[in-house]
Amino acid sequence: LKRVIIDTDTAGDDTIAILTALHYFQVEGITITGGNVQFDQQVENALYTVQVAGHGGRVPVFKGYEAPVMAVGHKQHRTVEDVHGDDGMGGARFPKAEQRPETKHAVDFIIETVHAHPGEISLLAIAPLTNIAMAIRKDPTIIPEIAHLYIMGGTNNALGNITPAAEYNFYVDPEAAKIVLHSGIPMTMVGWEMCTQYSVMDDGDHEEIAALHTAGSRFFTAVNRVVMQFNKTVHKLKGTTHPDTLLMAVAADESIMTKSGLYYVDVETAGELTRGYSVVDLNGRLDREANVRVCEAVDRDSFKRMLLDVLAAI
Ligand code: BDR
Ligand code: CA
Repeated sequence: LKRVIIDTDTAGDDTIAILTALHYFQVEGITITGGNVQFDQQVENALYTVQVAGHGGRVPVFKGYEAPVMAVGHKQHRTVEDVHGDDGMGGARFPKAEQRPETKHAVDFIIETVHAHPGEISLLAIAPLTNIAMAIRKDPTIIPEIAHLYIMGGTNNALGNITPAAEYNFYVDPEAAKIVLHSGIPMTMVGWEMCTQYSVMDDGDHEEIAALHTAGSRFFTAVNRVVMQFNKTVHKLKGTTHPDTLLMAVAADESIMTKSGLYYVDVETAGELTRGYSVVDLNGRLDREANVRVCEAVDRDSFKRMLLDVLAAI
């Protein structure tokens, strides 16, 4: 099994992504970064999710940066309770897990773990990139020791979900995204447009999942309650979206990524309307060396099968 660290702003789809990662990887730890909902709620959501997966007490959870470090003044750290429910769990109000967070800072955990296993640890980033950027800044010698970085973030078609142009994770902390994109770490990006094209679970899919009658399927139904309505009304999509879970599936089995390309990718940090927008230089106009493998298509049936396998096993 690949050894990984998950960096997450645990709410909504992050929870299903954590279940997926616990199914397919050896998860060394989970680090929390500011994003979807109130920070401490995200920590509780991660701890509860680990318990749901039956790993309670075995996968440590570390608190990281509660908000962007460099975006001060931009007031962009906007939480999105309207998407995921005020608890980030579809309003399910789960009880507190027994396991408590560690005292070590997330960034130190990332640095120490990568150094302890050089070339072995992959990072699975499903939140604003604050923690990862700060880890690189604090100790750049981890860069050549990271096996691979998988990022859910950005878009490859200028269609955002938080502003017209920007995807949420890049929008919240574009400076962090910029540091990470230019770090030289081998990385794969799964953007928001992959998620709207290949990860939507409609009412029929939800019925199929509910019919599994497992603790995993009941958890899935509960945490997706609010986002189902939000997506139908705001995004005019047919169902729930699973960007973070899609990233995990791609990392677990790259063969489900049916098209990808190496491109130069950068992120807008100065735009008045486009801050956080990811520029994927598809036609090479900037004449810069490629820094990111960008996911361009996914086998949707394989993704769905992987998701159902995870939920059936819990
Ligand atoms: C990303 O934003 C968050 O709301 C989701 O968890 C996902 O990581 C999608 O833009
Ligand atoms: Ca997330």
